[in-house]
This record gives sequence, C-alpha cells and structure tokens, in this order.
Amino acid sequence: MSLVTTSKSDGICTVKINRPDKLNAMNMDVAKELVNIFENLGKDDTVKVIILTGEGDKAFSAGADIEYMSKISPDESEEYAKLGQLVTATVENVKQPTIAAVNGFALGGGCELAMSCDIRIAANTAKMGQPEVTIGIPPGWGGTQRLMRIVGIAKAKEMVYTGKMIKAEEAREIGLVNQVVELSTLMDETMKMAKTIAGNSAIAVRMSKAAINKGRNADLDTGLGIELLAWRNCFTHPDREERMTAFVNKSKK
Ligand code: COA
Repeated sequence: MSLVTTSKSDGICTVKINRPDKLNAMNMDVAKELVNIFENLGKDDTVKVIILTGEGDKAFSAGADIEYMSKISPDESEEYAKLGQLVTATVENVKQPTIAAVNGFALGGGCELAMSCDIRIAANTAKMGQPEVTIGIPPGWGGTQRLMRIVGIAKAKEMVYTGKMIKAEEAREIGLVNQVVELSTLMDETMKMAKTIAGNSAIAVRMSKAAINKGRNADLDTGLGIELLAWRNCFTHPDREERMTAFVNKSKK
C-alpha cells in the first residue's frame, strides 16, 4: 500500500497520509511522497482544490518520526528538517487552494503540515500542538515561524514552550482552525467547502492565494502592488470575461 494516497473527483483531489498504525507519523518516505504528490498536483489544471487528511479516525499526523529521529546524527537531522521544510513549503505554495481536514492528532510536524494548508477544518476529537520540546528539540518543519503568524506570538510561544496539546475548540478560538465539526461529518463538511471554492473562478482563487501568500511577508505598499498584478492578470483571462458577461446578461433579462 502506498504511504500517501490520492483520489480525485469533480476537480477536488483528496490526499491522505496512509500510515495509521503509526498515527500517520511522517518518516522520510511519507515526506518525499508528499513533496512529489504536491509538486505534480501543482501542474494539474484539472485539480481546483486539494484536501489533505490522514487515514483513520485517530490522527491527521503525529508528526515527524521519533523512532527514526532517535537514531540519527546532527547532519542527518538537518537533512530531515530540510525535507520537512520542503514538505510544508511545497504544500503552502501549491497554486491550488488547500484545506486540511484535521481528523485527530495534529502534533509537531502534523500541526506544521496542517498550518501549511490555506484552511483548517477540525474534527471535534482533534488535538493539536507542538510537543517537540518534550523530546528535546524545537519545532523544525516551520512551527516556530508559521504558528506565530497564525495565532500571534504570545499564544505561539505558550504552545511551543509548554508542548501541551490543545483541543479542537480551543484551536478554533485562537484561530488555528477555521471550523470545528463532528468527526462523522468532517469529510462531508470539508468537501462542501471545497465544492464552493471549486465552483468559483480557478484563476481568481489562485491569484488571490498568491497575493495573500506573497503579501503576508511584505510591507503594505508591496502587497498592494502584488494585488494589482493579480487583479490585472485575471483581466487577461477568458474566465473573467465569461463570468462578468454572464452576470451582466442575466441582470439585463
Ligand atoms: N513517530 C513515530 N511513531 C509514532 C509517533 C511519531 N511521531 N507518534 C505515534 N507513533 C507510534 C507509536 O510509537 C505507536 O507505535 P507502536 O504501536 O508500534 O508502538 C503507534 O504510533 C501508536 O501510538 P501510541 O503512542 O501507542 O498511541 P496513544 O494513543 O497512546 O498516544 C499520542 C497518542 C499522539 C499522544 C502519542 O503517540 C504521541 O505523543 N506521539 C508523539 C507526538 C509527538 O511528539 N510528535 C512530534 C514529533 S517531532
């Protein structure tokens, strides 16, 4: 069985980490497979939205593989962290919008992976956290950087320094997840949002994503310049013309 599976329907691709016996912990093979899959999805224009989740009802991902990390040298650890950072950067920068369906534990690299998605929907049973300091390391797959950008520095420091897990509802309160739903409805609710997004102009959604992602780390003037480029780019696309003409014609009827 593949360690990461994909299934596509109606322009929506669901990517699933498939290592449930190890709570979907991401060893080297899982990490490489994720990079490979997301790089290929980025070239596939038939895919409009990507959902990322974990197999089973216990874990999205319990993070980097601790058994593997317990045996490696500092040099090997650097390679592993670089691969982890490549995973999260590849997911974050794929051109399509991404939704993490957090179906259980999202810890360490699992939380970092969820944070590299655009939107997070969590099951009410989910627990999230950055427990790395409890095993002697800081977060290394982007957690020291992305968490503070999402929840603010004070809450990020509290989560990273204590290593404590938080429940789905608290994750929603601090803005770490967008929505909390019953575990039994998680994939239906995630699919519902994915379909809404997939029904919109793909180019406009992608340009919006690019503008937000690029603008987030820029000053306001630079960000507004990026927004202008994204806007203009859509005006060169037939989809914009078709949608606006359809709106105008319908209003005139
Ligand atoms: N890396 C490697 N294996 C992991 C893992 C990880 N990050 N997280 C869980 N597993 C494995 C366990 O070793 C166990 O394997 P085994 O059945 O062969 O012994 C299996 O997954 C089930 O985990 P277990 O700990 O028995 O489940 P639990 O319900 O008692 O506890 C957690 C669940 C998530 C609280 C616990 O597994 C945990 O703390 N995991 C580590 C989380 C973490 O620190 N992640 C950050 C890594 S940087």
